[in-house]
Amino acid sequence: MTSLSDGLSDGLSAGTAADPAAGLHLNGISVRFGGLVALDDVSLSVVPGQIMGVIGPNGAGKTTLFNVVCGFVKPVTGDITWDGRALKARPDRLNAAGIGRTQQAVGLFHGLTVLENVMAGARKAGATRAGFLSQMFGLPRSDRSERRLRDTAMAHLQALGIADHAAELPTPLPFAIQKRVALARALIAEPRLLLLDEPASGLGVDEINDLAALIRGLPTRPGRECAVMLVEHHMDLVMRVCDEITVLNFGRVIARGKPDEIRASSVVTEAYLGTEVDNADVDNADVDNAGVSGVAE
Ligand SMILES: Nc1ncnc2c1ncn2[C@@H]1O[C@H](COP(=O)(O)OP(=O)(O)OP(=O)(O)O)[C@@H](O)[C@H]1O
Ligand SMILES: [Mg+2]
Repeated sequence: MTSLSDGLSDGLSAGTAADPAAGLHLNGISVRFGGLVALDDVSLSVVPGQIMGVIGPNGAGKTTLFNVVCGFVKPVTGDITWDGRALKARPDRLNAAGIGRTQQAVGLFHGLTVLENVMAGARKAGATRAGFLSQMFGLPRSDRSERRLRDTAMAHLQALGIADHAAELPTPLPFAIQKRVALARALIAEPRLLLLDEPASGLGVDEINDLAALIRGLPTRPGRECAVMLVEHHMDLVMRVCDEITVLNFGRVIARGKPDEIRASSVVTEAYLGTEVDNADVDNADVDNAGVSGVAE
């Protein structure tokens, strides 16, 4: 599970880390649910080549932030840019924009086999998808592009070690296998950014080790580089794979830095212990942010 097959199709040209506009940039995002401020002026960037972790106690706003990028939740203030262009976040347009996602709830199509679920995630070559869809609806079309799509989907299943389950329906399969299917479905679209919401939940130690190796390899796959925004409670995974970590508490960014800096941050510890964080502590969080560029606190 540690490396994806080299036989997969070429990725899109990724932006370069040298270009400050490259990647995903959230600027001053605020979200309210009635009287509740779920996100308060949150800014965050995920640049090419980077794995950005988003952590925080329960109710901190992590999933809300994820949902803002996906387009499920509309912010009341702020904007998002993706490779220098305004991103009008909409769930049905994410794939086309080169952004993939997996949800905590997995969200597979229960009536399709594992292989078909992965094929359904493909975004390139409308004719290929049309072939797949026409077959689904019993139409007579099944062409070379259809076979190519099947082969590509199969290669993704093999790379994730679940090819043996290709012909099975997903629902009876162990949760860990279903999560790999969801990952394969996201990766077949060759995203340049992958959003992961709690990918480790429900997984055992060995499965988390596999997941860590997979995530760690995503930004550096030759020709298919994929940055990652990882929303996760599993601290060990976050500390192992992330280049940078953004910490939310009560909808605000309270710290940002490298794993070691976050681990040593008293502000972060206090947030997790439920100790009241006063303004002086939040200001001190900037110390933890030293060396991180392009972030407005
Ligand atoms: N659709 C909604 N309607 C009203 N309030 C919501 C909604 N979604 C989230 N909230 C509230 O917004 C706040 C942030 O929730 P969110 O789910 O983003 O937190 P989280 O950091 O993902 O928490 P957890 O670690 O428990 O998953 C919480 O107080 C939550 O109750
Ligand atoms: Mg959540």
